[in-house]
Amino acid sequence: MLRFAEKTVLVTGAGRGIGKATAARFAAEGATVCLVSLEEGELHDAERELREAGGNVRSYAADISDPQQANAAIDDAIAASGRIDVLINNAGIAWEESFLDMKPEHWRRMIDVNLNGMFYVAQAASRQMAAQGGGVILNMASTNGLVGEALYAHYNASKGGVVLLTKTMAIELGVYGIRVNAVCPGYIQTPMSEAIDNEEFVQQYIRNKIPLGRVGKPNDVAGVFAFLASDDAAFITGETIVVDGGQLAM
Ligand SMILES: NC(=O)c1ccc[n+]([C@@H]2O[C@H](COP(=O)([O-])OP(=O)(O)OC[C@H]3O[C@@H](n4cnc5c(N)ncnc54)[C@H](O)[C@@H]3O)[C@@H](O)[C@H]2O)c1
Repeated sequence: MLRFAEKTVLVTGAGRGIGKATAARFAAEGATVCLVSLEEGELHDAERELREAGGNVRSYAADISDPQQANAAIDDAIAASGRIDVLINNAGIAWEESFLDMKPEHWRRMIDVNLNGMFYVAQAASRQMAAQGGGVILNMASTNGLVGEALYAHYNASKGGVVLLTKTMAIELGVYGIRVNAVCPGYIQTPMSEAIDNEEFVQQYIRNKIPLGRVGKPNDVAGVFAFLASDDAAFITGETIVVDGGQLAM
């Protein structure tokens, strides 16, 4: 059974990592998938890969932190597909920086991409969903949006903002048939985490912090997105789902 046949799913940050795995998952389940990402090279590689695997995909290059680019990508996707049934609002950035030394322009860039960008994309998609009679929006937050972690004040603040943006959207948009939820992954092995951490750090992290004894894979998150977008989650909105191998249970 192809759960997302006839559905159009737009995924931001789809060039690599969790976004790419999620795009592949929805394509495999029958959706038309619109890939949005900043870096054109990885975006076109992802588009080709998914198409070769039999997926029905299109791609749109955009920096979501620029409202004009974010709106143009959504408009182009709607012009091609006629609708957006599911938005996976996933694009994001992260790096370590101490609070005392944090540069204002670094703080601004983090908030611009992870929170402002998510708002621009979500608002444009919501307007289309309200007009078409409904849809599903899944915002990418993080366990760092629920608890703090040293060296990530800018990132933690952006993801905490996503959690409450999600709840507020759910409250305002339910009347239009739009469900809005947030997903909060823990440690997932992707180009983002590999750029920050070394192997020794990862092994120590697993030993000390993750009851399931491994880090997550992009597909661990993709499957949760697919569940939340499906009719099995038809009465879930305003929720934050933690996908962390048990880390926050400790
Ligand atoms: N990897 C983890 O451990 C982890 C944990 C919790 C939450 N997350 C969140 O998951 C999301 C994806 O992370 P990932 O680990 O797959 O990262 P990644 O770096 O592997 O992929 C991020 C994607 O977002 C795109 N992107 C970055 N800035 C953009 C912009 N301004 N406009 C458009 N696209 C942009 C990149 O080009 C890339 O395709 C992020 O929001 C991240 O904060 C990741």
